[in-house]
Amino acid sequence: MAKLAARTACISGSATQAVTTTVDRLRRSGIQVIDFGAGEPDFPTVEVAKVAAHQAIDANFTKYTPNAGTAELKRAICDRYRTDYGVEYRESEVIVNAGGKQALYNAALALFGPGDEVLTHAPYWPTIPEQIKLADATPIAVATSAADGFAIRAKAIREKVTPRTRGIIINSPCNPTGAVISEQEFEDIADLCGRQGLWLVVDLTYEKLIYDPVPHNLPGIIARKCRDVGVLCGSASKAYSMTGWRCGWTIGPEPLIAASGALQSHATSNASSISQKAVTAALSGSQEPVRVMLEEYRARRDRLYEWLTADPRVKCHKPGGAFYMFVDVSDALTAAGLQTSTEFAAALLEEARVAVTPGESFGAPGFVRISYATSMDNLREGSRLMLEFIRARTASAASTRR
Ligand SMILES: Cc1ncc(COP(=O)(O)O)c(C=O)c1O
Repeated sequence: MAKLAARTACISGSATQAVTTTVDRLRRSGIQVIDFGAGEPDFPTVEVAKVAAHQAIDANFTKYTPNAGTAELKRAICDRYRTDYGVEYRESEVIVNAGGKQALYNAALALFGPGDEVLTHAPYWPTIPEQIKLADATPIAVATSAADGFAIRAKAIREKVTPRTRGIIINSPCNPTGAVISEQEFEDIADLCGRQGLWLVVDLTYEKLIYDPVPHNLPGIIARKCRDVGVLCGSASKAYSMTGWRCGWTIGPEPLIAASGALQSHATSNASSISQKAVTAALSGSQEPVRVMLEEYRARRDRLYEWLTADPRVKCHKPGGAFYMFVDVSDALTAAGLQTSTEFAAALLEEARVAVTPGESFGAPGFVRISYATSMDNLREGSRLMLEFIRARTASAASTRR
């Protein structure tokens, strides 16, 4: 067979999607699995979006739209950010993409290239470093630590800046850790980027899922401190439970928006016309459904934390945002005679029928990610099975050692 292009060799497939595929396969063969792998809300899409989509189809709004998105959706995005953050952006500073993933991908391709280093924080959402590599640039991971609540620190980032650094990507709230960056740390990073002319790309996919009343006006800080180098990537996926609709956006300086548009015009063209109508309705309508989902996630987070920390071998902190608990299972691994979190996740799925995502995928061996975008009953039963698995494995490893 003729060879594949070299770039395919340095890119790994999505490990989070691999968990979903395994769960699907097991379920199709009749095996019940509790799925803590899912990176998507378990709620239905918000009602106004569904109604608007039906209307769009009935009105035959089913053709190409402008490549960068409809004017009404771009206006709705500008209005939402003005209301939520007090920032003013023009329609020419916005592009609609097929999901936050495409927003980030276009930004990576438009901003970074060979020889560039791009800083991001670890544990990370695996797509971030992979997209940097696809842009032929080098991802540099700046470690955050569990002991510090995975806080993203400007000082640690500053220390990794070299003459080759071209940009910094911040994801807050963070997948997988749930960490929410403090405004002070973000201001320091924005100052650094403004002073040194580094791109500051912010992944705000989970911006609506913050549990405690902490200030998180990252768009406001960008607008004040480094508007010329600040890029906001957002998404309807998690806030409005619209993962399948594939709609996100980029807000930033006009030249970047134009470049993102040019790339998109040759790759995918506009995001689905029907989805754009639906997202316009979601962004412009009442935000009450978002609040209701947030309350439910908060209740789940609190209970899951209680259930898991009942076993001292399982260590975690309460995440400030998103819907993931990032759990340190390193003590449990040793006790259970397992080497890696990948082995842990495989054995947990095999023996207890609970699916989690191993930390190696996020650059964090010794951890597993548990998604609490699932029912309280599943969380109760799944955490019980997980602790039971650790107890049984520990007992059997101890008896083998004797
Ligand atoms: C951190 C982060 N950013 C971006 C995305 C992209 O989401 P979407 O492409 O569905 O908007 C995801 C999805 O899981 C995510 O976890």
